[in-house]
Amino acid sequence: MNKSVVKKTASKKAAVSAARLAAIKCLRQVFKGSSLSAVQAQNIDILEDRRDRGLANEMVNGVLRWRWQLEALVSALLSKPLKAKDIDVQLVLLMALYELTECRTPDYAIINQAVELVRKSGKKWAASLVNAVLRRFTRERERLISGLTSETALYSHPDWIIDLIKRDWPDDWRNILQANNQRPPFWLRVNRQQYNVAQYQQLLGDMQRESEVSPLADQAVKLSQGIDVRTLPGFAGGAVSVQDVGAQLCAALLNLSAKQKVLDLCVAPGGKTCHILEHCEHLQSLVAVELDEKRMLRVTENLQRLQLLAGAASATGDDAEADTRLALIVADVRDYQQWWQGELFDRILIDAPCSASGVIRRHPDIKTLRRSSDIPALVELQAEILLSAWQMLAPGGELLYVTCSIFKDENQHQIKRFLATSSDAREIEITASWGKPCEAGRQLLPGEFDADGFYFCRLRKLEAV
Ligand SMILES: C[S@@+](CC[C@H](N)C(=O)[O-])C[C@H]1O[C@@H](n2cnc3c(N)ncnc32)[C@H](O)[C@@H]1O
Repeated sequence: MNKSVVKKTASKKAAVSAARLAAIKCLRQVFKGSSLSAVQAQNIDILEDRRDRGLANEMVNGVLRWRWQLEALVSALLSKPLKAKDIDVQLVLLMALYELTECRTPDYAIINQAVELVRKSGKKWAASLVNAVLRRFTRERERLISGLTSETALYSHPDWIIDLIKRDWPDDWRNILQANNQRPPFWLRVNRQQYNVAQYQQLLGDMQRESEVSPLADQAVKLSQGIDVRTLPGFAGGAVSVQDVGAQLCAALLNLSAKQKVLDLCVAPGGKTCHILEHCEHLQSLVAVELDEKRMLRVTENLQRLQLLAGAASATGDDAEADTRLALIVADVRDYQQWWQGELFDRILIDAPCSASGVIRRHPDIKTLRRSSDIPALVELQAEILLSAWQMLAPGGELLYVTCSIFKDENQHQIKRFLATSSDAREIEITASWGKPCEAGRQLLPGEFDADGFYFCRLRKLEAV
């Protein structure tokens, strides 16, 4: 683990408790199966003080990232495990151990806060236990940490994920697991319709923000530190979006040009849809399909902020060369016969629902929420989406299949199976300076070029003979 600075003063004690209470609520809900982003919005985003929000987010992400290591420490410190009904006590211990190993808050303050927190959660009986366990940890810290030898504890992942990554990436599994435990970088995509990257870096420099560009994507900028996006130059007017540099590869891989008809499948929250429209202004049409109505609202918001909706909404079709006709459809891709108008598309993007095993560093709750039993159902769903999409692709057209997964079953095995059963499909090889060539497609592994892990495969539909 890396030491990080979490500043706190004695006079902020009460406020810190609010942050900790919010963090414990979040952790309890994620451990019960809720997604972190949903519980963050309900419990952390509502805190008034920016420092409280920062501390609560630090605690929650840290515990979810290092859960398996912290649990091994708790096991070593307790003579018998806590009962399932005492999850609050376990969570307080995990959180305090995270702080004791990662943060610069004085030990006595961390322990006092943990004892106060366990009392507040209605488990007064556990106050002395928490106190004793944490004090023992501070006395025996080095021995306890050097006693962690299992891969589960050392790499802090559930066993099934370690096993799958080892099986799929025998030469890279250690690097992948380590990359998954890093704090994610802060990547932006500069809207090329408003600024080039050098101009935007200048604006960032004017506000004393350091940034770097990427050899992967020409509109990508990495900030050296996180920031409230609303304070970014031109954010409200659509100058820039938050998007990992790996995700920014899609628009170029789609091989877009003017007047094409594009079908964008599984689109929410709209990162790639917006990028496509920024990237190629004169498409004939873009049809964007998403199953989840609420998530589709996020697509609309993003399109509005980026000023991509107004032009499209005013398009009547009379001036199709200048305006992309944009349709947003809430539907299941697999029910395409219900919503498809019968037009064949020149380009199709499938950003398939997947295990998200490539974006664990950004969403550490994935390690807690996903089960190995989820994978076969996802593979089946992806295969059905791919088969449906293929029916809507014009002969000579191209389909880009993308996942943010590193599991081969969702990626190259999926595509190999599709190619074996689709006589009109051919792979278009992706030659690139990034990623690993696969049996089919190309895999960007987490951490490579400081990107998240993504899989890409380009397919062409053969012209009828
Ligand atoms: C990986 S996310 C898409 C990310 C998005 N393309 C972006 O760049 O912001 C996958 C999306 O697929 C949607 N989805 C899942 N099953 C679907 C289906 N059968 N039909 C349409 N959308 C589906 C999910 O609701 C989710 O929003």
